[in-house]
Amino acid sequence: MKGKVLLTGGAGFIGSHTCVELLNAGYDVVVVDNYANSSPEALRRVKELTGKDFPVYQADVCDRAAMEKLFSEQPIEAAIHFAGLKAVGESVEKPLEYYRNNLDSTLTLVETMRAHGARKLVFSSSATVYAAASQSEMTEDLPTGCINPYGWTKYMIEQILRDVAFAGKDWSVALLRYFNPVGAHESGRIGEDPNGIPNNLMPRVMQNALGIIPVLGVFGDDYPTPDGTCIRDYIHVVDLAKGHVAALKYLEGFTGCDAINLGTGTGYSVLDILNTFEQANGVKLRYEIQPRRAGDAAACYANPEKAKRLLRWQAEKTLADMCRDAWRWQQMNPRGYNA
Ligand code: UFG
Repeated sequence: MKGKVLLTGGAGFIGSHTCVELLNAGYDVVVVDNYANSSPEALRRVKELTGKDFPVYQADVCDRAAMEKLFSEQPIEAAIHFAGLKAVGESVEKPLEYYRNNLDSTLTLVETMRAHGARKLVFSSSATVYAAASQSEMTEDLPTGCINPYGWTKYMIEQILRDVAFAGKDWSVALLRYFNPVGAHESGRIGEDPNGIPNNLMPRVMQNALGIIPVLGVFGDDYPTPDGTCIRDYIHVVDLAKGHVAALKYLEGFTGCDAINLGTGTGYSVLDILNTFEQANGVKLRYEIQPRRAGDAAACYANPEKAKRLLRWQAEKTLADMCRDAWRWQQMNPRGYNA
């Protein structure tokens, strides 16, 4: 690729890990981030890990003037759009903020790309768009639909990008549907640093191991699964990041818009996670069975064949790797990036 790759939300959990993998693969990157839920320290560490420097713009992707300035200063050929609000529960409380922010940022990004001749786009979508599916193994052609405003923003953005690619035949768009990203870079220097009390399982497991959450709730043990707890497809964030590098390569020879799952294809239960975390790290967790959480599907995992076929990519790390790397990051950075 001759031009640079713009990462919106490049200081976030998945963005920062993707930044490392792109730099290691020889790409020139530019990051734009407003640090609403991330830290400039993550990017400082990306530079330290890779030994490479790159331009960083502190700006909101919804800010047209800032995006116009960025595109007029940098030769952007492709963008990976990570930026967005992503807390499911918060989206139910603040739907307008979610629709305004996630849709507006995407529209501003795509309009600025159009004005500057950039036509390759990778979008951070989510397996949450499969909420309408009646089965557990998700293939990309299943019906889509959502159950919360966060999910609907992903769904709507997918549709917008499909329409953009249909109207302008020179666009190359990959809608990457992530399953459950966990883990951290194996150096322990970058990882997930959620704002406030985390909602997702792995950050909560670690807070339990640290004693911050005295008793971890396992939300339901009466699901139709082997041990009764919910099954998800947990994927190591470094594998996920490599999936983005593979998607960019794929877009070099593709026009149109394609949805592709990024998952391992293997589902693990909540109890599998707790047991593997204890064994891999030699720690003891304290948990109890609690009522089901509203909106949880019994099981959801990727069919990863399309990514294998088109991107020539597949996840390689094990659940033990995910647990070990997440815990290493947590122990080396007990207060995240705000040490
Ligand atoms: N869980 C617990 N206890 C906790 C937290 C979670 O038992 O304290 C359980 C949940 O009930 C669920 C599983 O752990 O069965 C995973 O929950 P997460 O919240 O970590 O992940 P989800 O699968 O619910 O959500 C993730 C992403 C969303 C995305 C969704 C779509 O966080 O952004 O996948 O598949 F929308």
